[in-house]
Amino acid sequence: MIKLPGLIDPHVHVREPGQTHKEDWNTATQAALAGGFTAILAMPNTNPPIFDRDTLNLGLGAAKLKARCDYAQFLGAGPQNASKVAHLAKESAGLKMYLDSTFGELRLDDMTLWQSHFEHFPKNAPIVLHAESRTMAAGILFAQLYDRPVHIAHISLKEEIFLIKKAKERGIKVTCEVAPHHLFLTKSDIPAIVGAGLSPALTGRGEVRPRLTVQADVDALWDNLDVIDCFATDHAPHTLEEKDSDTPPPGFPGLETALPLLLTAVDEGRLTLDDIIKKMHTNPKKIFNLPEQKETWVEVDENATYKLRASNMHSRCGWTPFEGMQVKGRVTRVVLRGKEAYKNGNVLAKKGFGKNLRRWDTNHDNKA
Ligand code: NCD
Ligand code: ZN
Repeated sequence: MIKLPGLIDPHVHVREPGQTHKEDWNTATQAALAGGFTAILAMPNTNPPIFDRDTLNLGLGAAKLKARCDYAQFLGAGPQNASKVAHLAKESAGLKMYLDSTFGELRLDDMTLWQSHFEHFPKNAPIVLHAESRTMAAGILFAQLYDRPVHIAHISLKEEIFLIKKAKERGIKVTCEVAPHHLFLTKSDIPAIVGAGLSPALTGRGEVRPRLTVQADVDALWDNLDVIDCFATDHAPHTLEEKDSDTPPPGFPGLETALPLLLTAVDEGRLTLDDIIKKMHTNPKKIFNLPEQKETWVEVDENATYKLRASNMHSRCGWTPFEGMQVKGRVTRVVLRGKEAYKNGNVLAKKGFGKNLRRWDTNHDNKA
């Protein structure tokens, strides 16, 4: 048995409010615990998006009633809300700025809008950018011009890891995360993800932002593991009906497959357990300024060999792009703040057990 600290996923689409047919705070946090995550940071591209006091209260209200693991909620940067979200910074996981198009309405095209957010948002509160390729280069320039940290979400390209490495060497305050699907899949896997039974024209199950890339990009990520600060799932559940439609939304679920895939890489000697602890606990805790979760750990059977099956998972979306993939390493038990929260396939933590990690008043051990 291997014991890991409680894992932190800084990039989860919980889908509540507004899209609870895909996922909600109950099912997302069940999936999190089953995957070995004891804390998740929720993205703001819900419906309505979380971008002001009322919508933050709406999201946090649902989380308070239903979350089974600990959490914090991101605010979304919009065209009109720079000073509003700056005032809510302390109550949030941070500010998410969508600089490229993806699922949802939040998107900032105009760089003068980036400017007002960089001017207002507190320097000690996290800013996360969805910024691909050249947009990412512009985002890094903003970090330098405003001399503040930025965290780049889900990088996937060789040119991106190169740029982040160079920026770090220059002392620019940039960190980044990589999602398991960009480490274990390429676009040549799309036909297998789409499945044999469906029309090959329906490739929606392979759609994700950033898109799946080619082997040279995947290799560049593996060759620069030391430049990658975090592994984040970008858990982005959509139903199969939606994925197989003519207008498929992009996104893969990932909470219940990340750790088994990464443990398999450890078994193959491509990664160390220490890498997993750093990139899924220590670094996200530091970057997002999260409190210690006392008496919290994850037990893993490192020898369990099995195939990933959506039918054994807790996410409401009911599918995985990794269906049938052979892995080695299974989460057997999760203890969260002294309570058994998950054991052998069963989530034991009750709805409402999860705590908001940004409630400074009720988290006496939150020293940040
Ligand atoms: C995400 C979603 O579905 O909310 N989709 C995705 O493909 N990753 C949005 C995002 O993170 O860009
Ligand atoms: Zn995302």
